[in-house]
Amino acid sequence: MNTKKSEEMYSMMLGLTPAGVSSPVRAFKPYPLFAKLGDKEIIEDQDGNRYVDMCMAYGPLILGHCHPSVVTAVRKQMLKGCVYGMPSEAEMELLKRICEDVACADSVRLTNSGTEATMHAIRLARGFTKKSAIVKIDGGFHGSHNDLMVNGNGQKITPFSEGIPEDSIRNTRIVSYNDTEFLSSLLESDKSIAAVIMEPIPGNMGVILPKKGYLSEVRRITKENDVLLIFDEVITGYRVAKGGAQELFGVVPDMCTMGKIIGGGFPVGAFAGRSDIMEMVAPSGPIYEAGTFSGNPITAVAGLTTIKNMTSVKYEELKRKTEIVTKAVNDIINDKNITATLNSAPSMFQIFFGKESVLNAVDARGADSKIFYDFFRFMLKEGFYLPPSKMEVEFLSTAHSYDVVERFCEKFGQYVEIMKK
Ligand SMILES: Cc1ncc(COP(=O)(O)O)c(C=O)c1O
Repeated sequence: MNTKKSEEMYSMMLGLTPAGVSSPVRAFKPYPLFAKLGDKEIIEDQDGNRYVDMCMAYGPLILGHCHPSVVTAVRKQMLKGCVYGMPSEAEMELLKRICEDVACADSVRLTNSGTEATMHAIRLARGFTKKSAIVKIDGGFHGSHNDLMVNGNGQKITPFSEGIPEDSIRNTRIVSYNDTEFLSSLLESDKSIAAVIMEPIPGNMGVILPKKGYLSEVRRITKENDVLLIFDEVITGYRVAKGGAQELFGVVPDMCTMGKIIGGGFPVGAFAGRSDIMEMVAPSGPIYEAGTFSGNPITAVAGLTTIKNMTSVKYEELKRKTEIVTKAVNDIINDKNITATLNSAPSMFQIFFGKESVLNAVDARGADSKIFYDFFRFMLKEGFYLPPSKMEVEFLSTAHSYDVVERFCEKFGQYVEIMKK
């Protein structure tokens, strides 16, 4: 495979930005591939190699690259202006859709990224409850702001970046996903907790599914202890179902955050919740949050067009395709007698090598990174672009055909044969 242009661009980029990438997840060894174009389920690199894109820009492109109706809507909006500094119709329509589709969303505030959304959501939770501590899940990711960039367990909390002052994380508590016992005792003993923020289906430690009843138990415990529950649906919103994981599992949080799909490929975020909480946001209330580009009309038309295109038939098809991958990959794992597992939720999945089951961050970290990277390189050679880390997610879009899905499974089978040798 010739990737010479990517290599050259990488060496130029190295002098321009750290490690040659604008976001660390895009880096891999020996150098990342540089994109030339995206087309439906295909991504093409600068050397003209074409790959089935299973990364899909880490989640926003549920309709695939360059969906014609999104392109048309954006073009039309461009001619009418790309930023106003006034509220607009496109923004109103997007907000209306979110309020209709997402159970906890009586009211929504748009931001420019998922990071901003979670940052403002926890400020709002703190302001509303007049309490200061926030509980997060070990291995959960909510963007790159100080308060939530920590991992660990009840005893030991470690920032996963330098430069985070101890004061910023003094009010952060950590619990393990799929464990309600510790959460319950923490919330009963620590009355400074304003909110629990969690990805209802974690997508930043591969994909992890809630044990039966886990999310409803978290809902019960938080309610009983007068603690707000925030679902971070930046990945799962409009993906696992129109109404996100809260619809899929029938568990309604007090607030949620969203991003990715609701921007149709443009920068976006949102936080939403019960009206009595959302009324506290400025200028209705005393909790400040603002953004020059928030509610941007280009983002809004792209997001709105994407959402409108996602009919229930398309959600059903995505679910079916995910089921096909899940069954085929797990059948191969069993038939070939290797230790691995695939976790999936509609249109998202991850394969963990060296693990029979993955229920939390400790399990996910324990999966074999070397084999995953080897699998990633193999798939690249075979024309599939996966996110280069076992802690990320393979995404399906409506542009991925049944044929492509079956080819992915075949390639997995071929890889297992090679791996066993
Ligand atoms: C669950 C979750 N929350 C928040 C974020 C941050 O979103 P953004 O990258 O738009 O800032 C991400 C990013 O991947 C995410 O996966």
